[in-house]
Amino acid sequence: MAEDLINNNDIYFPSNLGTNDKLITLLNRTSRTLCDWFSKADKNGPLPFGESFNCIMPAEDGNSEEDLFSDIESLLNNSFNPVHPGSLAHLDPPPLIFSILGDLIAAGLNNNLLAYELSPSVTLLEESLCKWFAKKIGFNDFSGGIAASGGTLSNLNALIAARNNAGLGSDPNSVLLVSEDAHSSFVKCIRVMGLDTRNLVRIKTDNQGRMDINDLRNSLDKCSTENKKIFAIVATLGTTVRGAIDPIKEISEICKQRNIWLHIDGSIGGIFAITSIPIEGLNNINQANSITINPQKIIGITKTSSLLLVSNMSTLENTFNTGLPYISSKENIINRGEIGIQGSRPAEVIKLWLGLRFLGLKGIEDILNSSIKRKDFFEKNISKNKFDIYSGPLHIVSFLPNKLKPKDSDAWTQTKVNELINNNFMLSRPKFKGKYFLRVVMGNYNTKDSDIEELLRLLDA
Ligand SMILES: Cc1ncc(COP(=O)(O)O)c(C=O)c1O
Repeated sequence: MAEDLINNNDIYFPSNLGTNDKLITLLNRTSRTLCDWFSKADKNGPLPFGESFNCIMPAEDGNSEEDLFSDIESLLNNSFNPVHPGSLAHLDPPPLIFSILGDLIAAGLNNNLLAYELSPSVTLLEESLCKWFAKKIGFNDFSGGIAASGGTLSNLNALIAARNNAGLGSDPNSVLLVSEDAHSSFVKCIRVMGLDTRNLVRIKTDNQGRMDINDLRNSLDKCSTENKKIFAIVATLGTTVRGAIDPIKEISEICKQRNIWLHIDGSIGGIFAITSIPIEGLNNINQANSITINPQKIIGITKTSSLLLVSNMSTLENTFNTGLPYISSKENIINRGEIGIQGSRPAEVIKLWLGLRFLGLKGIEDILNSSIKRKDFFEKNISKNKFDIYSGPLHIVSFLPNKLKPKDSDAWTQTKVNELINNNFMLSRPKFKGKYFLRVVMGNYNTKDSDIEELLRLLDA
C-alpha cells in the first residue's frame, strides 16, 4: 500500500476538509513533469526512438508515489509529442494551454453530462456553447447541438437523427451518399447502423477532390429507379487527404429540392466558418441540417472535442430521447444524455470553452491563418518538377514524386517516412486512389519557416 499517502490521511480521494496539501504537492509535481516533457521535445523528436515502455500492471499492493512518477515519466518519454515542430503527420496539433487546464478541471469536477442534476453548470455551458457555434455559422433560434467524443461519433449522431427524421427506422433499402474521398468513418457509421457497404453510395470527385455534382445527380436518379431511400447526403468540408471542400451550395440546393437531409462533415474545416477567414467554397453551410465541428483537429483543444450542430434541436430530441427513469428532470432543461448516443460523458466542453475564451475570435483566426500560411509556404516552395501535389483551400498537402510508378509508392513513401523521422519530421502516408502518398498537415503552431525549409531540403535530397 502507498504508505506515504495513507499517512497523510487523504489516501484515495480529495478531502472535503482542510487544504489538501498533499494533493497540491502532487499536482505541482505532475505539472512540472509534464512541462519538462514539453521542453524536452526538441531533444527527443516527435516520436520516441525505440519502444521501451514497460506496461506494468497493478499489483496486490499499491505502488509508492516515487514508483508512479517514474511510470508517468516513462509513459511520457515513450509517447508521440505533438509540441515538437516536426509533428506534421496528422490532425493532432499541440494542446492549447487553457485546454490542458480545462481538462484538469473537468477531471477534478468529475461531473457527468448525462444529466442536469449531475452537471448543472456544465450542462448549461454545453448547451450555450453549442448554440453560440450554431448562431455563428448562421443557424436560427431552433438550432443547437451536442458534444461527442470525436468526429466519428458526431457524424454518427447526425446520421442516426437523419434516418430517424426520414422515418426509415432500420429499413434495409435506406442509403447514405458520400463522396469517394469522404472519411472512412462513414463505413463504420453504416455498419453501426445495421446497414452494409451497399447502403453507402460513393459519389465521384473532380480533379480538385470535390464531389462531382453531375455524378451526384445521376446517382440520385439511379437510387430512385432502384427504390433506394436516401436518408442523407454528406458534404465534406475538408477531406482528410487533401483538404478539399465539396460544393456545398449546389449540394444544399439539391437537398432542398429533393427534401434530403444535408450533413456537413466539417471535422477539419468547419471551425473556419466561425471566422472571417476567406476560404474558397466555404459558403451556405447554414443550409445544412447538421454539421460536425471538431476543434481538436486544428486549434488545439485537447482531445476529444467535437460538436454536432443541428439546425433544429427537436430532431435530436425525437431521435435519442428514451426517458431516464433513474434521473430527475427539470422543466425547460434537457438532460444531455437524451440528445445523443453517449450516456455518461465527461465535462469536455470546459476545455473547449476555456480554450475559446482565452483565444477570442482573434486568437482562433491567428491559429487558423498561421496554418494556412505554413501550408502556402510549403506548397509554394516544394519542387513542382519533382512532385505531384494534391491540396485544397485548407492546411493539408499530399504529394508524390511525379515519375514514380504506382506500384513503387508503397516502398518509396515508407522509406521516406523513415528517413524523415530520423531527422525529426513526422509525416503520414495515406493510401489514396490506389497509391500511397506523403501527407503534411500544417496545423502545428510551433513549426517555423526554417523547419519547413529543412523539411523541403530533406524531401528534395
Ligand atoms: C474529415 C474527417 N471526418 C471525420 C474524422 C473522424 O474524426 P475522429 O477521429 O475524431 O473520430 C476525421 C479524422 O481525421 C476526418 O478527417
